[in-house]
Parts: sequence; structure tokens; C-alpha cells
Amino acid sequence: MNLQGIKITWLGHATFFIETPGGKKILVDPWVQNNPKCPDNKKKLPGIDVMLCTHGHGDHIGDGVELVKKHNPVVVGAFELCMWMQKKGAKQISPMNKGGSQPVADVRVTMVHADHSCGIQDGDEIVYGGEAAGYVIEFEKGPKVYHAGDTAVFGDMQLIRDLYKPELVMLPIGDLFTMGPREAALACKLLQPKAVVPMHFGTFPALTGTPDEFKRMTSNLGIEVIAMSPGQTI
Ligand code: NI
Ligand code: MN
Repeated sequence: MNLQGIKITWLGHATFFIETPGGKKILVDPWVQNNPKCPDNKKKLPGIDVMLCTHGHGDHIGDGVELVKKHNPVVVGAFELCMWMQKKGAKQISPMNKGGSQPVADVRVTMVHADHSCGIQDGDEIVYGGEAAGYVIEFEKGPKVYHAGDTAVFGDMQLIRDLYKPELVMLPIGDLFTMGPREAALACKLLQPKAVVPMHFGTFPALTGTPDEFKRMTSNLGIEVIAMSPGQTI
């Protein structure tokens, strides 16, 4: 698929570093330094303009506070998650909620539903982090990208298709805490993207879904499965 100058690097698990054709840097889910799948040579980021947070679990925002202090990005997330980030030192927050869109840097992001939980581990407490979400990212040109966050499959993915028509989607396939390959294949039917990047698998032994299994289950759909390796850029 032609990304028209958009560069997307998978840092492992659900974390993606996206560079826009205009040179803006977007980090989806700040789990980098402590992400066991992130290659060491990718852990030092050249900067972050926008930090998109899908939800507050440690395998998504575990390095958020540290990265916020270092790079001072605009933090986008659910209202409660943003307020928590602000309390932890974020100077720029841009809270939102599902169904809403806003411009950040040179993209437009829409927060969409995810069927998942969201508590933030804060010391020995779990605090409410708002609801878990996904994002549709619209660039000045090029394909629309949908990062589903952690989620089960849900019928309203059809609405995401109808409203935004994302061409490239990142879907979790690891099972146990999110969809497995079977559910993600149905998500592909609902979303009808041109291409899909599987994520959130294999990081821990319990996340058993594999890209091969996912490919088999989607082979009749005419959708390109882009099985990236951690650190790879498309
Ligand atoms: Ni989660
Ligand atoms: Mn997760």
C-alpha cells in the first residue's frame, strides 16, 4: 500500500512511531524503554510532538511519564487519563472522548470505541483512567489509519468503516486480553481495510495469537496482512 510519505515504525506490542510527511512525530502508546519487544536501537526517539494514548494499562502508557518529561509532547487521551498525566508532569494535554475529533500537529485524530478496561497502575493503587479507546488518524494526504488499541471485536466497527473508511488498520491479535486471530478476522470483515498490521501478540507467552494464524483466517478477504517485525518501518 502507498503510504504517500507517512512513515510508520512498529516499536513492538501496541506502540507505533509515526512520522508525517510534514515531519511531525506521533507516538501511539508510550511503552518504549521497558517494552521487551522494542529493539534497543529504537528506544531513543528523535522527538515526540503528539503522544496518543489508547488507555492506561502499563503495557501502553508505562513509559509515558518519563517520555513526557523528556519530549514535552501534546498528550491526547481520555479526559481522566490526560488529567492523570497532567498531575504527573505533562505540560500540554488535549483530552477528548469517543466520537470526537480534533486537530493535533498536522493530523486530525478521532477517538473511537474500544471494548476493553482501563485502570492506571499508580504505585500500589489502580486509578480510573477513563474508558479504553482507539484512534482514527487522518493525514493531510495519504491513507487514513485506525489503531484499534486493546479491544474485543464489536459490531460498531461497521460504524468506523462507514464514517471514516480507514485503509490501514492496526489490530490486536494476541488473545487473552484482546481479540485473538479469529475475532480479528471478523474485525477485518467489518472494517474492510486495504491492509492490516497485526499487533499485541507474542510480547508475553500468554499472548498466543500469531500472524500466520491471522493470515490463514483472513486469506479469503482480499486484505493485505503486513506482518511487521519490531523496529521495522513501512
Ligand atoms: Ni490493555
Ligand atoms: Mn495491552
